[in-house]
Amino acid sequence: MAISTRRFDCLVIGAGGGGLRSALQLAQADAHVAVVSKVFPTRSHTVAAQGGMNAALGNVLPDNWHWHMYDTIKGSDYLGDQDAIEYMCRAASRLVVELEHFGVPFTRLENGRIYQRAFGGQSQNFGGEQAARTCAAADRTGHAILHSLYQQNLKARTHFFDEFFVVDLVTDDEGSVLGAVVIDIETGEPLLIEAKTTLLATGGAGRMFRTTTNAMINTGDGMAMALRSGVPIQDMEFFQFHPTGIAGAGILISEGVRGEGGYLVNSDGERFMERYAPTARDLASRDVVSRAIATEIREGRGCGPRKDYALLKVDHLGADIVKQRLPGIRELARRFAGVDPISEPIPVYPTAHYTMGGIPTNRHGQVVVPVATGPEEAIPGFYAVGECACVSVHGANRLGGNSLLDIVVFGRAAGNHMLEYLNENRYHRGVPEAAIERALARLHRWDRKGDGESVDELKEALAKTMEDYCGVFRTQAVLDEGVDRVLALEARLQDATLKDHSKVFNTARIEALELENLMDVALATVVSAAARTESRGAHSRLDYPERDDNNWLKHTLYSKSGRQLDYKPVRLKPLSVDSFKPKPRVY
Ligand code: FUM
Repeated sequence: MAISTRRFDCLVIGAGGGGLRSALQLAQADAHVAVVSKVFPTRSHTVAAQGGMNAALGNVLPDNWHWHMYDTIKGSDYLGDQDAIEYMCRAASRLVVELEHFGVPFTRLENGRIYQRAFGGQSQNFGGEQAARTCAAADRTGHAILHSLYQQNLKARTHFFDEFFVVDLVTDDEGSVLGAVVIDIETGEPLLIEAKTTLLATGGAGRMFRTTTNAMINTGDGMAMALRSGVPIQDMEFFQFHPTGIAGAGILISEGVRGEGGYLVNSDGERFMERYAPTARDLASRDVVSRAIATEIREGRGCGPRKDYALLKVDHLGADIVKQRLPGIRELARRFAGVDPISEPIPVYPTAHYTMGGIPTNRHGQVVVPVATGPEEAIPGFYAVGECACVSVHGANRLGGNSLLDIVVFGRAAGNHMLEYLNENRYHRGVPEAAIERALARLHRWDRKGDGESVDELKEALAKTMEDYCGVFRTQAVLDEGVDRVLALEARLQDATLKDHSKVFNTARIEALELENLMDVALATVVSAAARTESRGAHSRLDYPERDDNNWLKHTLYSKSGRQLDYKPVRLKPLSVDSFKPKPRVY
């Protein structure tokens, strides 16, 4: 079938911080770069990141990258790959300064240096006193970074396809990725974008849960594309629940609130984190704080008429601190909880926040796959960065402030590696007709209209199922039931149709395609979780409460074909320093 075609050196799918940082590296080196985004770039989910980006600048308290590395490994419950973590923590300070030069308006200290706040899981001197490592632009850091990167890309002449949705990657028989078939959401016109090298930066899949900090766009599109192209996805059982979502709404209330001195209380007015994390208290890592809130509620010490939330107190900080450092939080609390944190506590409950698993990559952003004959291999010309990828720097539990860092460090690294790849691969290879037809078939499957199953209802049912059967606390029986229920929903999706109105908007087709993506990613998550019989980081099994390094110090790989699970070792050897051996994790 004839289809309009555009050719670029590089195709970047997703215009959040990871995609834009990669694109900038490429465009500044005069590569011909296309960025495809299903929303206007500055509406990408990076815009919602609040509290900041970690780097051991030592502007407020003493710090160095090696302590940051230790905290990140401990935070990951030892599942993070230590070479990638070292690379990220060492690069952090330089990249904050680079962002400042791109125009990011970081908050300042009196002495003019960049302001840094305390965040969870941060320490000085390998587990000592609290550190202050998170560089902030008030509580709108992601917004500031995303806008600066977008402006820099405009200046560098990156080509944007705004409000285009990627239907699928196109590959040849050897599995090489040659670009993608996309559609213009406004007109519904398909377009083939051919590229010598392709990068996925499509963000996470938080929309598989009902209560989430994630935007509607976070439907795991890149992970599902990788699965369909035969790449297994890694460590999907590790999904982060942020401790402080606004109760009932799930809207993010930044960890920066606790970093500024806010704290949690239960219905007795008790600062209960002192019992769960005697040293770090409210600044323990997120998995620990989320479990503590959930436990308080389960044991009857929740607040409110239904005893179903904890309270986050900020009123003791004073109006000036709230107005200067937490203006966005104040606005959100007033709008979504009806409270002004200057004088009233905010009702909070853990909310689905971050996909720690994803498309396996090395520290150059290359997508890697296991090979039967030896160590894993990179797929030439195929890259992934940010939340859709698993490099793996977050392991079983990400530290707050490390996601903005992840996207700029590995976005830049992937851009550099793609430039090297372009030097050696100068020509387009031609896309097989069959690959285009496969992608178009995926689109045209949703031309079917009628009274079949409703996409909206299935989406809601999936989100409720994941919340009920793959939440903060898990057991074998609950997870097995979850697998069965998601499989049943997947089967029903085969019978879904769009409603038989006289006019079907393209957005309805997009939502159907997104649900297919979300379904694949949810299945990967619950199947991987049901198999891991230990507790590690965010994967908390009531029936297997201990971490089990003898059997489970390994990454999970889930393949779409046959829903098969494989495992690969954690990389415990850093690049240049001694490795941090697993030890009990206390805060
Ligand atoms: O709490 C927050 O501000 C979120 C930060 C993050 O997820 O890194």
